[in-house]
Parts: sequence; structure tokens; C-alpha cells
Amino acid sequence: MAYLSIQNIRKKFNKIEVLKGINLDINKGEFVCFLGPSGCGKTTLLRIIAGLEENDSGVILINEKNITHLQPSERNLSMVFQSYALFPNMTIYENIEYGLKKKIKDKKLRNKKIEEVLLLVNLEHISDKYPDEISGGQQQRVSLARAIALEPNILLLDEPLSALDAKVRENLRKEIKEIQKKLKITTIMVTHDQEEALTMADRIAVINGGEVIQFGTPKEIYDSPKDIFVADFIGKINFITSNEEVFAIRPEKIEFSLEGDKNSLKGKIKTIEFRGAFYRIGVEVLEEILYIDIISQKWERLTLKLKDTLYIKLNNGMKL
Ligand SMILES: Nc1ncnc2c1ncn2[C@@H]1O[C@H](COP(=O)(O)OP(=O)(O)O)[C@@H](O)[C@H]1O
Ligand SMILES: [Mg+2]
Repeated sequence: MAYLSIQNIRKKFNKIEVLKGINLDINKGEFVCFLGPSGCGKTTLLRIIAGLEENDSGVILINEKNITHLQPSERNLSMVFQSYALFPNMTIYENIEYGLKKKIKDKKLRNKKIEEVLLLVNLEHISDKYPDEISGGQQQRVSLARAIALEPNILLLDEPLSALDAKVRENLRKEIKEIQKKLKITTIMVTHDQEEALTMADRIAVINGGEVIQFGTPKEIYDSPKDIFVADFIGKINFITSNEEVFAIRPEKIEFSLEGDKNSLKGKIKTIEFRGAFYRIGVEVLEEILYIDIISQKWERLTLKLKDTLYIKLNNGMKL
């Protein structure tokens, strides 16, 4: 039995249905990402789980208990937002203490808990600073510490990394994942960033237009996308349409050689794009451009140039 069971959740805003019957079963300790384009309903679904928004129909169970009509405060869930939502007039320490006062009445025990979570997010040395005296990444760590201190049943994160610089984002990704694993806390993170979802999630729910299109491990989603939308939204992919059938292949899965055999297609190099770790090569085959990703080291050894011939094989593709 799932720990968190989301059953047939529907929601309308101004007569427009933004959630069209969402079903998801999430296990205890699992890290799930809701991934989808802007406006697809991710935040609305998260807010319904948190009790901040009311659903029109459907139920939510935690440990088989129906929580659909409980107040947010009765659900024991913590939420972290993209905007850190810290109190500017309180120190880091006081920010974390604020929400804990009700839960841990004993000052000493409370101190202990605060020190514990500060240590967890590596902020013990700046606990007496104010939010505007620390960086965005540190502020988001405070929000995380504050959420974790409450020992929630489920941690809900709504695009927590979106406002941060690439480097900080990458570090915090790892930290959040480590903390989540260490505490084995059931976590749902909303993101529109496919790379974030692929690197962090145990399972990804790909959402589009208020529906869950596919729910699976990052590898399942990447290697066996259920439809064209999922294939296209996650990673780069080539589509080849023939006789109303769509065939798809990832750029790194295309095999190529300088001399063809009877199973290869002859192509002509049309574009060469340097991407750092790899090159993305556009090859014209059968009047279509297919993109091939080739590790830089390998490509540079080949010393190929525009208009040169390349033979490719498509046996690692998939039918959609
Ligand atoms: N309070 C609201 N009132 C009216 N429409 C809303 C409200 N909240 C969200 N929406 C609409 O619902 C849809 C889904 O929004 P949202 O859940 O925020 O998407 P996402 O988080 O995936 O970007 C959007 O079309 C949005 O404009
Ligand atoms: Mg959102």
C-alpha cells in the first residue's frame, strides 16, 4: 500500500479544468518530482496535497487515512517555496525557531533540534545573521532547515532551486538529495527543469495539461517515453515520421562510422555545434536533419568538417 495515495484529483479554476483526474501512489521515503511545462498544474496539485487549495473531487490518503478535508496544520506536511519566505526581522536561528515553538515547548529540546538542522544544512556558523546578510543559496537552506525541523510526514518543495545561480543550484541539488536520503523523508519536488528531475528523483511524474502522462524512474522516462510529448520534453530527441508511424532516437544513441555497410544510411554533415563536453552534429539523411551527440574527445580525433559524409545506423531507436 502506498504511503501517499492521490486518487482522481480534479480541480477547476473559473470553469477551466486544470487538474483532470490525477492518480499517483507514492511510497514512504521516496523522492518524487512533478515535472512539466509552466501552467500544467504542478503547483496546484502540490497545494492541494498541502491543503492550501481545495480540490473539487477525489481523495488524498496518507497511510490509508483520508486527509482530504484536514486543515494544512493538521496534515504535518512542510512546504518550501521558490521565494524563501523568511522573516527579514528575525535571525536565521529565530526563523527556524518560530515554527517550532508550538511543537517543542521545552527551550532546551528546541535548541537541540535547531542546532541539529543547522548542522544538517551547514549553517551552524551563521545562525545569528539576518536573511539579508546571507546569500540566496543560504537563505534557501534556511527554508529547508525550517521545514525539516518540523519532522513532517512529507516534504513538499515548489521549484526551490529556480531562483538560484547555476552553480549554487547544482550544489544545493546534491545537498537536498543527501539530506532526503539520510532522513528518509518522503519528498515531492515540483520542477520544470528536466535535468533537475532526472538527477534528483526516484520517480518522475511527467504532467502536461493537468494530466499525469507518465510516472516512472528517470531511466524509464528517458529510455522508454510513453509518447511524443514525454520524449520531446525530456532530453533531446530526433523524430522520424514515416507511414504515420513515429520513430524516435536520442542523439547519443545514433551509431555512426566513416565507411558504411548495407545497414547504414549515408548522410552529409550540415551543422557542427560545440557544446563543451560533446558536439551536436546535424546530419542530413533522407532529406531530414538528424542530430548526433558525440563526446568532444572522440569528435575532435575524427577531424571531420561540414559537407563531409557520415554513415549512420538507427537500430537503437524506438517506435512511439
Ligand atoms: N488561484 C488561481 N486562480 C485562477 N487560476 C489559477 C489559480 N492558480 C492557478 N491557476 C491556473 O491553473 C493552471 C495551473 O497553474 P499551476 O498549478 O500554477 O501550474 P504550474 O505550477 O505547473 O506552472 C494555470 O493555467 C494557472 O493560470
Ligand atoms: Mg508552479
